[in-house]
Amino acid sequence: MGPEPSPVEQGDARMKAVLFTRYGSPDVLGIQEVPKPAPGDKEVLIKVHATSVTSAECAMRRGEPRWGRIILGLRRPRKRMRTLGLEMAGEIESVGKDVRRFKKGDQVFGFAGFNVGACAEYKCMPEKGSLALKPANSTYEEAAAAVDGASTALFFLKDKANIQSGQRVLINGASGSIGTYAVQLAKYFGAEVTGVCSTGNMELVRSLGADKVIDYTKEDFTKNGETYDIIFDTVTKSSFSQCRGSLKKNGCYLPTTGLKNHFLMLWTSMAGGKRVMAGMSVDKNEALLFLKGLIEADGLKIIIDRRYPLEQAAEAHRYVESGHKRGNVVITVE
Ligand SMILES: NC(=O)c1ccc[n+]([C@@H]2O[C@H](COP(=O)([O-])OP(=O)(O)OC[C@H]3O[C@@H](n4cnc5c(N)ncnc54)[C@H](OP(=O)(O)O)[C@@H]3O)[C@@H](O)[C@H]2O)c1
Repeated sequence: MGPEPSPVEQGDARMKAVLFTRYGSPDVLGIQEVPKPAPGDKEVLIKVHATSVTSAECAMRRGEPRWGRIILGLRRPRKRMRTLGLEMAGEIESVGKDVRRFKKGDQVFGFAGFNVGACAEYKCMPEKGSLALKPANSTYEEAAAAVDGASTALFFLKDKANIQSGQRVLINGASGSIGTYAVQLAKYFGAEVTGVCSTGNMELVRSLGADKVIDYTKEDFTKNGETYDIIFDTVTKSSFSQCRGSLKKNGCYLPTTGLKNHFLMLWTSMAGGKRVMAGMSVDKNEALLFLKGLIEADGLKIIIDRRYPLEQAAEAHRYVESGHKRGNVVITVE
């Protein structure tokens, strides 16, 4: 007798997911019962144990930036993007017939990217997507919070700026998700690190290894006469023109957002000298393997500010939208 068909294949199974059908405030988010997805031949079905709420998703929920609606949906979110959730950690419940990399029972962490959908009880991911076995020494909550911010920090510092040991690196927004990882990764790569944050977060940023911490409420790092090889503005609160004077010759300015910065990247790459390096990390497979190794070697602290149950996703969005979270905000999926 063959294996019993799973409820997924029966097509009548349901799951809880957080949905939004129009752009707007966190009030547009609601929890609903939707069909449980079934993995395709080259996909895995993950029982999500934890996901997160990021600043990027709050912007997606608002339908911002406006040009982003070309991808998100012009007047309302596209059907396939109505459940947010970029990063996740969970256990593989079943795999498609052609899957080789993973098996049922594997504990994984991963990045759904523009497919989103991790703010739900189950999520299908392509086996070759941004997915890896989770660090053995981290909880599901920690692993879920160690995907997007950490891999984005790695992408900008290593892939974009080619960070080198001994360089002077300034991290603005050092207490946020990308920022807390950027401080630690820049130290890991041997840089001398200055973190910029507000008074209440100075101790946190110091504890992550920053050599120097600047309180942005008291000092403007663009006007103190210091110069850096890399200025990584993880929250894009500055501009290239403001930071130009604080960059060394051939120094590099890294903003995480802003269409204008992509034009500046083109322009400065042709002009030579001080450069803007913008971009978006999408394929995070290699980064996840690197981060797993680093976390397992106790080389990366994962900062979790708050935890919310799936039912309180709107509350989590409200908090993240304040722009003052420390590290990461996690959604625990029971
Ligand atoms: N390009 C990419 O691939 C990519 C990928 C992911 C995210 N992003 C973008 O990157 C940005 C940052 O994401 P995130 O999740 O790291 O942000 P986040 O965690 O939400 O940032 C919050 C932190 O920013 C700090 N902050 C607020 N105002 C500041 C200021 N004026 N100066 C310095 N720090 C300030 C806050 O500290 P205080 O409370 O002390 O003010 C808080 O700790 C978002 O816009 C997101 O959309 C880009």
